[in-house]
Amino acid sequence: MLRETSLAPANFIYPLFIIEGDGLKKEVSSMPGCYQQSIDKCVEDAREASSLGVPAVILFGIPEHKDEMGTSAYEEGGIIQRAVKELKSAVPDLYVITDVCLCEYTSHGHCGVIRGTDVDNDETVGLLVREALSHARAGADMVAPSDMMDGRVGAIREALDREGFTNVPIMSYAAKYASAFYGPFRDAAQSAPQFGDRRSYQMDPPNRREALREVALDIEEGADIVMVKPALAYLDVISDVRSRFDVPVAAYNVSGEYSLIKAAGRLGWVDEERMMMECLTSIKRAGADLILTYFAKDAARLLNG
Ligand code: PBG
Repeated sequence: MLRETSLAPANFIYPLFIIEGDGLKKEVSSMPGCYQQSIDKCVEDAREASSLGVPAVILFGIPEHKDEMGTSAYEEGGIIQRAVKELKSAVPDLYVITDVCLCEYTSHGHCGVIRGTDVDNDETVGLLVREALSHARAGADMVAPSDMMDGRVGAIREALDREGFTNVPIMSYAAKYASAFYGPFRDAAQSAPQFGDRRSYQMDPPNRREALREVALDIEEGADIVMVKPALAYLDVISDVRSRFDVPVAAYNVSGEYSLIKAAGRLGWVDEERMMMECLTSIKRAGADLILTYFAKDAARLLNG
């Protein structure tokens, strides 16, 4: 009766890693229980999540072909564009969100176009707009830019509106830190940068006020939901964003946060289920309305009894 925070499957967004092929389901070695799957297997997985009460998935594509410009990210027949169509027709109630970024599609693994030794912000924004539009044309319900280029939310909003996608919202990765907690994801998405790191476009972990400026800019540009990422090492940032702004707040319970709990659970050092629920509850308590989490199905099963 006195419990202040409650979790529900409806709060979760379930990430899927999609590969080319048929009937393929390969476990990611650093993320037990998570898979790279072909579209048909993703459909089965998404259907299961949906039947457990998880309303939404977010899609990450792993293309066969990578190049300097991340071309496969914005081709009409690309892996994500096809996956969106299949998922929407096979599981109509499922809310399909697409991650908009270039790092899974570039040969160098950076989130944008490289000029000299660094990512060119403005040239990248043009490509992200093409990517977001191609996802919307394929039927994506919402797009989620995760690249951290400046000005991309406004540019994507304008392009979506111009093409008639006024009802496709944007969930922006607004306060995204350059974090060691993304390590296992980069195995899963095969997107580790081939040189340097992402610190020229992702945020510096010691900075808290800067996160509020990043969030304010994205909201001004038209973001409908703002995200803080990672979640557990940044609960103070989630809490600040919650108290300062009135838009829905999402938090990404990232790959490293998942893998730590899985690994310690497997070693018998911690109670995996209890730790999972405690962490998810703490993210909600800090102020997140939505949690992107690889635990979505496991946690939903527990919550459903
Ligand atoms: C793409 C992207 C990343 C994650 C989500 N979108 C990786 C990165 O920035 O390196 C990380 C998710 C996770 O670790 O679970 N830019």
